[in-house]
Amino acid sequence: MNDIFLRAARGEATEYTPVWFMRQAGRYQPEYRKIRERYTLPEIVRHPEVTAEVTLLPVQQFGFDAAILFADITTPLYAMGFDLDIVEGKGPVIYNPVAEPADVERVKPFDAGSGTPFVLEAIRILKSELNVPLIGFAGAPFTLASYLIEGGPSKNFIKVKSFMYSQPEAWNQLLEKLTEAMFEYLRGQAAAGADALQVFDSWVGRLTRYDYETYVAPHMKRLFAKLAALGVPVIHFGTQSMHLLSSMAAAGGDVTGVDTATPLDWARDLLGPRPVQGNLDPTLLFAPIDALELGVERVLRANGGRPGHIFNLGHGILPGTPPDSVARAVELVHEKSAVKP
Ligand code: CP3
Repeated sequence: MNDIFLRAARGEATEYTPVWFMRQAGRYQPEYRKIRERYTLPEIVRHPEVTAEVTLLPVQQFGFDAAILFADITTPLYAMGFDLDIVEGKGPVIYNPVAEPADVERVKPFDAGSGTPFVLEAIRILKSELNVPLIGFAGAPFTLASYLIEGGPSKNFIKVKSFMYSQPEAWNQLLEKLTEAMFEYLRGQAAAGADALQVFDSWVGRLTRYDYETYVAPHMKRLFAKLAALGVPVIHFGTQSMHLLSSMAAAGGDVTGVDTATPLDWARDLLGPRPVQGNLDPTLLFAPIDALELGVERVLRANGGRPGHIFNLGHGILPGTPPDSVARAVELVHEKSAVKP
């Protein structure tokens, strides 16, 4: 097995920089769009053999150094009593959102074996077919709570923040339930064979540092302390989170995700020896190849040869990304980071 991704996640020096891209399986691939003509996203996830096929596709096509399980951060929410859908071009929509403290009471505890057996089965299939590590993942409590309270994607996060400020007890109860559930979900994925885990706190960057420390960090600390006992590397990812980076690193995870807007050299100076993941601008994949090449070089130069760098985008691949640019980006990372004998 090519374990260069795992070695970089542990902070070891590697012969080249490992690379994978968030949302590497998805709509920019004609093969994925073809599968989506027959199955919706939740249907793909409920068919382990289709999930495995979709997960493998970008790894086989582009030579990524890790695979990420195909699912969504909303996948475990159905078993917790939520009625939801993923709406094309919009994102997750929750039909029975959390509107008041009493709604927190009805959030059901989660068990990976009965709640998402299809996810565990997909991991078992993938483990027999992959020659690179498999990353399992879950949404972080704040990001999940933002969907559950807003009822869908949000621009200003007014409902979730109002709930947090006005109902601190119910807020903490909701985040405790989500923390417990996502730990169980991730524990199940690791037990089924996931080699690493990523926690996506995509929307947490919309909080001030004070609010993060007050309303979110205590839950994240509990989550990461429990995950550390699983013995697999854990990546902690956020976006628009430059002001939170040291707080997020302190909350936990072995590898800290760095978003596009954050200078990678600044992040490395701030975080010391802690491994990082990032942070090519996903829109550079739409640029002419020479601009893309310079962009890849800039990220590698910002890392400055320090061990413990996993190359990734600063956020997920965008629909419409030319697949040839993805192929070229992976080659460029491998070529330009290779340690010359
Ligand atoms: O990275 C991968 O290849 C694994 C698959 C993956 C998906 N969602 C599949 C998906 C992962 C890791 C996610 C995580 C996810 N889902 C996050 C965290 C990462 C991030 O980007 O910040 C979030 C916030 C979600 C919620 C969500 N699901 C959004 C915002 C959307 C996009 C809506 C749209 O149509 O633009 C989804 C849908 C979704 N999840 C798609 C995929 C491939 C695209 C929709 C489709 O195929 O129908």
